[in-house]
Amino acid sequence: MRIGFLQLRPRFGAVKENVRKATATLERISDATIVLPELFNSGYLFRNEEELASIAETVPGGFTVSEMQKLAKRNRLNLVFGMAQKHRGKFYNSAVYVSSKGTVEVYQKVHLFDREKLFFTKGSSFKVVSAGDAKLGLLICFDWVFPEVSRALALDGAHILCHPSNLILPYAQDAMKTRCIENRVFAITANRIGSERRGATSLAFTGKSQIVNPMGEVLASASDRSESLRVVEIDVGEANNKNFTPNNNLFDDRVPPLYAALVRKRR
Ligand code: ACM
Repeated sequence: MRIGFLQLRPRFGAVKENVRKATATLERISDATIVLPELFNSGYLFRNEEELASIAETVPGGFTVSEMQKLAKRNRLNLVFGMAQKHRGKFYNSAVYVSSKGTVEVYQKVHLFDREKLFFTKGSSFKVVSAGDAKLGLLICFDWVFPEVSRALALDGAHILCHPSNLILPYAQDAMKTRCIENRVFAITANRIGSERRGATSLAFTGKSQIVNPMGEVLASASDRSESLRVVEIDVGEANNKNFTPNNNLFDDRVPPLYAALVRKRR
C-alpha cells in the first residue's frame, strides 16, 4: 500500500486558505493513506477559549471535514488530519480519519501539551481504524512521549501509527523510531513548519516529518523548512511479524502481572 505525509505551514486562523492549499496539493495523488499535521486547518497558538470557539468545527458536518471527504472520495485517499473539534459544548484537539469511502472517525488527544490544557478537553479513549486491510492507530503530537499509547494501539491491531503533530522540541522523531522497533509497526509523523507569534507567546515548529518502518528505518523524511508531500510504497504485512528473534515474540513475551505500576496512579 502507499502511505505518506503532507508537511505544511498553515497561516493562523485562515481555515479556508489552509484547507484549500492542502487539498490542492493532495489533488495530485490518489490511492494512498496520507497524514497531515495537528491543527492543520487553523494553526496552533489559540489565545483563549473564545478564539478557539470561533474556529473549532463539528465533526462531521463542518467545512474542513466536508472538503476532505470530497477529496478522499474523488482520489481514493484515506486521510488523517488534526483539527479543533467542537463537541457538546467542549473543544477537543482531534485527529480525524476520513476514509476513501467518505466515512469519518475521530480521536480526541489524550495527552494535552502545555497551554492546550487551558482550553481543550482531553480525550478518554484511543482509536484504531481500518484502511482496507491495514489498521491505523491514531495519536497526536505529545502522545509520543507516553510509550503506553503506541503499545496500546499496536496491541489493538494497529499496523501504522498515524501521528499528526505540531512539534516544537527535537525528540519525537528519534522516539518514534523506538516506538516502531518495540511494537514492530510503521509510523507516519506529519509535522508542520513555520512559526507563530500571538500576543506574548511565540513558537517555532520543527518539521522533519518522517515515515518509519518496523525495523526503525526511515523510509522518507522532510526538511525543517519546506512544505513537503512524500509517499512511499510499503508491505503492511511486515507489521504482523512480532518475532524479534526465533525465540522472542514482542507481544507473547510480555509479563503483564509485573506491569501493575504502569496502571497505578503516581505514589
Ligand atoms: C504538541 O503536542 N503539540 C507539542
